[in-house]
Amino acid sequence: MNIKVKISMEGSQAFEPNKDIDSPNRNIAPISSEINENKKLVVGGCQLSELAKKYGTPLYVFDELTLRSACKTYISSLKKHYPGDSLPLYASKANSTLAICAVIASEGFGLDAVSEGELLTALKGGVKGENIVFHGNNKSQDELNFAYKNNVTIVLDNYHDIELLKNIASEKKPAKLMLRFTPGIECHTHEYIRTGHLDSKFGFDPDELKSVLLELKTYNWANLTGLHAHIGSQIFEVQPHIDLAGVMADALKLAQEIGHPIIDLNLGGGLGIKYVQEDNPPSIEKWVEVIAGAVVKACKDRNLDLPRLMCEPGRSLVANSGLTIYEIGSKKVVPGVRTYLSVNGGMSDNPRPITYQSLYSACLVDKPLNTNFEKVTIAGKHCESGDVLLKDFLLPSCESGDFLAVFGTGAYNYSMSSNYNRIPRPATIMVGKGSSELTQRRELPEDLLQLDVLPDRFIPKN
Ligand code: LLP
Repeated sequence: MNIKVKISMEGSQAFEPNKDIDSPNRNIAPISSEINENKKLVVGGCQLSELAKKYGTPLYVFDELTLRSACKTYISSLKKHYPGDSLPLYASKANSTLAICAVIASEGFGLDAVSEGELLTALKGGVKGENIVFHGNNKSQDELNFAYKNNVTIVLDNYHDIELLKNIASEKKPAKLMLRFTPGIECHTHEYIRTGHLDSKFGFDPDELKSVLLELKTYNWANLTGLHAHIGSQIFEVQPHIDLAGVMADALKLAQEIGHPIIDLNLGGGLGIKYVQEDNPPSIEKWVEVIAGAVVKACKDRNLDLPRLMCEPGRSLVANSGLTIYEIGSKKVVPGVRTYLSVNGGMSDNPRPITYQSLYSACLVDKPLNTNFEKVTIAGKHCESGDVLLKDFLLPSCESGDFLAVFGTGAYNYSMSSNYNRIPRPATIMVGKGSSELTQRRELPEDLLQLDVLPDRFIPKN
């Protein structure tokens, strides 16, 4: 019999039986995690060490059950707590691949994209153009052409967007638009991932809102049907979203008074997840309940009909479905200072620790219940001293060749990955019901040469 598990940190990295998996974003490991009769870690019915041997490492593993469960929770919570129409959009910057787009589309999600690459991935993954919104603070003419051609809703971020759209949209086929503004709401998250305060590169300033709404009313090529704001990412408080609903309802009233047929109110994403035991984000349902309730109240207070409610979860949809398996290699003991264990990946497949000092949880996939802990620092293999995935972390004693799983890597890992040091990107697999499927093949060193061009004059003559 396999036992359901939840990762418990509390200074140790042991597992404990899981009794209350209430929301994927509140569970460090994928919700299908189990310990099998051999005391090895299993996800999606697959023993992780077997996957590591079959596909090689580093390996991004995606649990389909966790991903679908997060999608279903957003959809059912919106239905339960919001009396009007709703459409959740997956913020695909969190992890843009064909397989993930296909899963979220099949669960009834739309999608938010920020580049032609993300748009293309979404469309090819089966998301319909009319269910996609296109963001960006510096969209190119080509990107706008592509979005417009595919009936994607374009989120106006600035006057530059308006000027470029004049070149393509017409009275015959008006551009479907949403307007993004900076709501002026502060929230507690890393400075780099805060976007709702006034000193932000995204969206129109609130002081410009009225004039841009008036200007848009004069264009027969513009069909403004929605308003958008996003306040930041990895947020645990709900008050900023309650405040946001009020600010957006004011904007909705203004836009409708000016004569825009606004039907969509898009409150962005931002719900945080549990990376380490101390993290205590609200559940998906709680978050939806709060934003839905706040929008209903804000509209009622202003005598407005309920808009279609949109939100754009990224991290809370995909982060905890994902984990990364590494193989442990070299060990270096700096006496009295630190023990370094190096793994065969690092900042190129997970740049979040070096970028945001992000914390993660991990365990040895074949010794998840061992408790003979040693304090170690898990370092990556890149030529950069800061390439550390977990600092001063308690791990059961292990040796070279052991596999390590780092949890919560489904969001902003692959999507922010690089080839620093010309290290190829890992493969990605999707697991579920005891089987595994490749969803992204491993890059090979030769792949990295594909785009290089060596001018003839550099080619050695003999
Ligand atoms: N909507 C918009 C307009 C956004 O800019 C973002 C994230 C989201 C939705 C999704 O937010 P989420 O639900 O994932 O919090 N690279 C950083 C995160 C950057 C988030 C950027 N925008 C990280 O690794 O933490």
